[in-house]
Amino acid sequence: MPYDFDQPFDRRHTGSMKWQLYDEDVLPMWVADMDFPVPPPILAALHARVDMADFGYEKPSLALAEVICARLRRLYGWDVTTEQIMFIPSLVTGINAVARAIGAPGDGVLVQTPVYPPFLTAPTNQDRVTQMAELELVPNGRTFSYRIDYERMEAAVTDRTRLFILCNPHNPTGEAYSRAEQLRMAEFCERHNLIVCSDEIHCDLLLDDTQHVPMATLAPEIADRTITLMAPSKTYNIPGMKASFAVVTNPELRQRLAAATAGIVPWLNCLGLTAMDAAYRHCDDWLNELRAYLTANRNVTVQYVLEQMPGIKTTVPQATYLAWFDCREAGIEENPYEFFRREAKVALNDGPPFGAGGEGFVRLNFGCPRATLLEGLGRMKDALERLGRAGG
Ligand SMILES: Cc1ncc(COP(=O)(O)O)c(C=O)c1O
Repeated sequence: MPYDFDQPFDRRHTGSMKWQLYDEDVLPMWVADMDFPVPPPILAALHARVDMADFGYEKPSLALAEVICARLRRLYGWDVTTEQIMFIPSLVTGINAVARAIGAPGDGVLVQTPVYPPFLTAPTNQDRVTQMAELELVPNGRTFSYRIDYERMEAAVTDRTRLFILCNPHNPTGEAYSRAEQLRMAEFCERHNLIVCSDEIHCDLLLDDTQHVPMATLAPEIADRTITLMAPSKTYNIPGMKASFAVVTNPELRQRLAAATAGIVPWLNCLGLTAMDAAYRHCDDWLNELRAYLTANRNVTVQYVLEQMPGIKTTVPQATYLAWFDCREAGIEENPYEFFRREAKVALNDGPPFGAGGEGFVRLNFGCPRATLLEGLGRMKDALERLGRAGG
């Protein structure tokens, strides 16, 4: 059944954080949720669940764990058992719990920047030290990508480093790491005896014919040191439902993670469990159509930047609905996030919170109807043109 992702969806009055943080004249293109209603099967399942009028304590069912296992087998040939699935409310909770579970206060946690800001704060929240290895920007005319800089990885790691947090697909670069690239990262982690926390929340948001390879599927010994975090939240636009999971095949790591969450991380919300179940059972068609729509939006974004915003450079994401703009040569003499918010009335994500390599960059969310995307890009272009005229 064709879904109409062009349909306007008014979120001003829904409680959406994305749409409420800024004044009404500002177009929000920041936080990573999409301006699309949830897939109809999720809505139907939630209506039915609400009609039960029972919101008591609920544990994830064995059937739900089996649905997840079947999906991992079907998509990645990854065989895991239901006891290796650990339910967690959210990935930020998961990242913090892993930082707490691995090593001791004062130990190091390695991350690759620029990266989703909670990667930088999770270690310090748990009395660990964040160690940043900046990715190397690879220019390609007006677009750019990133390469993992192993010299910087070696320079950042110390004998106190215990954990590496990987973002794959990567927010904000949009890179989906290949098997070969991940084998190289895994070799690095084995050599330094690091546990890997692989945040794969964006693994379903694949553009073009990009494939996702979970780190833990590379080899049994790599799975042994890996905690994988996944969720239906980004994919099906239900992050407010708080229903996610970790896949942990190593029983000792499972036990450590369980100990780190005991008493402080709640069970999942009962509606979140319903939403996850419906998402993974009934929404494949919706997801396929979403991917095609997001791929077209990615193309529109890149083409618009190349043709209409001469000073801006952009990534060409392979996954996610996030574009990352390099504004350092756009003639903007202030923080570009502030500039676009004030002069274009477009709210983006500011680069510096993404860590080393974020200064002069902004992140744009293109997970929205095409008309909204073009409105935002148009406002940004006009602001840049006014700036050019004022400068000239
Ligand atoms: C890489 C990554 N991890 C985690 C999250 C947030 O996950 P959650 O809402 O489940 O805490 C995001 C949200 O944008 C993200 O991009």
